[in-house]
Amino acid sequence: MKVLLAVVAVLCTFEASLSQDYHVTPLVGGVSGTGKTTRYWDCCKPSCSWKANLKSKSGKPVEACAADGKTVVKESTKSACEEGAGAYMCSDQQPKVVNSTFALGYVAASFTGGIDVNMCCACLRLKFQGDLSGKQMIVQVTNTGSDLGSNQFDIAIPGGGVGIFTKGCSSQWGTPSNGWGDQYGGVSSESQCSQLPSSLREGCKFRFTFMKSVSNPAVTFEQVSCPSEIVSASGCNYS
Ligand SMILES: *[C@@H]1O[C@H](CO)[C@@H](O)[C@H](O)[C@H]1NC(C)=O
Repeated sequence: MKVLLAVVAVLCTFEASLSQDYHVTPLVGGVSGTGKTTRYWDCCKPSCSWKANLKSKSGKPVEACAADGKTVVKESTKSACEEGAGAYMCSDQQPKVVNSTFALGYVAASFTGGIDVNMCCACLRLKFQGDLSGKQMIVQVTNTGSDLGSNQFDIAIPGGGVGIFTKGCSSQWGTPSNGWGDQYGGVSSESQCSQLPSSLREGCKFRFTFMKSVSNPAVTFEQVSCPSEIVSASGCNYS
């Protein structure tokens, strides 16, 4: 009986958090425009986990994790992608579906083209265009990349391809150096998400469920206030 009640309580809490209404307000004077998306999950410590990359030097950087994807490590821990061990992307920085048209997540972004840490920890509303029109995603900028073009948002999706960094997922999860699936693009079906550790599978499926297997959809974007759920999972607030 007690066990049953506990299960009911857990289910109710889960339900309540999923049906939460997100009031996301555009930031006056924030960035906006049209952009392209790609996807990645290289398991590496993200760039906004370095304090030096934050606009506000008193701000808290994005959390990076030990190889379990859960235990937060010290800010000074080197990225596993340089050393083959060290700090990794925390597993909770994966996409979360709120409902069929609204999701939360994280991106590596560049507004200028190339490495661009100016917007570390800012949040954006990405409105998908084309086949995904009507769907939107609120994302936080946690990373950047030398291989990004201007207004490119590389969505952090487990199993989305490791890209140029091949030491992260191989040392964290024992994948081949190309990661799960193709080095660029990752796994190619929802069933292949079963290759990932269970902690990353839901985020992997996001591409095939919420995003309806549409690859690299175009978006319009505008800067918005960060929902508290995003900030509490990443540890970083924009200021
Ligand atoms: C989905 O969630 C968003 C954000 O809370 C809300 O504004 C929207 O009405 C919801 N849509 C549906 C179909 O429930």
